[in-house]
Amino acid sequence: MKKACVIGFPISHSRSPLIHNYWLKRLGIAGLYEKREVRPEQLAHFLSHLREEGYEGCNVTIPHKEAALRLIPNLDAVVRKTGSLNTVYFDGGKLSATSTDGEGFYQNLLSAYPRFDAKAQKAIILGAGGSARAIIERLLRAGMAEIAIVNRTVARAEELAGLFGPAVRSVDPDHFDSESKTATLLVNTTSQGMAGQPGPDVELSSLPSSAIVADIVYVPLKTELLRRAEARGLATLGGLGMLLHQAVVGFEKWFGQKPAVTEELYRLVARDVDPEFR
Ligand SMILES: NC(=O)c1ccc[n+]([C@@H]2O[C@H](COP(=O)([O-])OP(=O)(O)OC[C@H]3O[C@@H](n4cnc5c(N)ncnc54)[C@H](OP(=O)(O)O)[C@@H]3O)[C@@H](O)[C@H]2O)c1
Repeated sequence: MKKACVIGFPISHSRSPLIHNYWLKRLGIAGLYEKREVRPEQLAHFLSHLREEGYEGCNVTIPHKEAALRLIPNLDAVVRKTGSLNTVYFDGGKLSATSTDGEGFYQNLLSAYPRFDAKAQKAIILGAGGSARAIIERLLRAGMAEIAIVNRTVARAEELAGLFGPAVRSVDPDHFDSESKTATLLVNTTSQGMAGQPGPDVELSSLPSSAIVADIVYVPLKTELLRRAEARGLATLGGLGMLLHQAVVGFEKWFGQKPAVTEELYRLVARDVDPEFR
């Protein structure tokens, strides 16, 4: 039986087991995806004995993401560019890692808006943390012409922009309004809007009517930002689809088949987030 797991400490309410075990059952694969509590002092031993523990690989969550970077010998190009990883697997027997958040965001965007073409377009990214970095890296690879980072701590946005080429700039929050006139994609990557908290304090009225407003927060499923965008008649994209699409990458590496993100899976996980979801 093939196995994979998610490791963290404490191992929070991860939804990964729900997602991967759903796919294993649907595809008729004799496999199992488990949750494993791994303390920081156990991480090096756990990763170096992953095979002996019976695993094809694992997801890595808080607080191990940084330490794992130093313990995994084979980091792919996405990890090297984004400085973060969340998926560990074996490549020709060698312990390897990738980061799937950028891919998850992009595939979610394409699945909701198949005609979206990043080329010659401009995005505004709210936030300058790990997920902003992953999404920027993926949008640039998709050909995005211009990316403006707007962050509470401007110095962090400047630092992030500096990691990429001239297509990526830091923009002061005070200039959001004028900047948004020409943006066709707005992405909230801050934690603002989580669980009943107010969303990012940005005015949506200057965005073109063709713009897509995306939020990577998925608790609640429909954030305040998305509600405001809908009220303005803009196209929207929630964060739960990103979580499902990012999981595809690891599943395929561990279990050898590419699973589908279906309406049925979305409903299953959405009900776990919000029992009232219909
Ligand atoms: N849908 C998915 O699959 C998925 C995947 C990954 C993450 N997420 C979600 O994305 C969010 C961010 O994750 P991350 O790993 O990128 O976090 P992170 O590295 O800690 O970055 C957090 C960002 O949010 C900003 N921020 C936090 N509180 C703020 C506030 N009160 N006002 C203004 N800005 C604020 C920070 O600004 P400063 O620089 O000024 O501190 C920073 O830019 C989390 O809610 C996480 O759950 C979702």
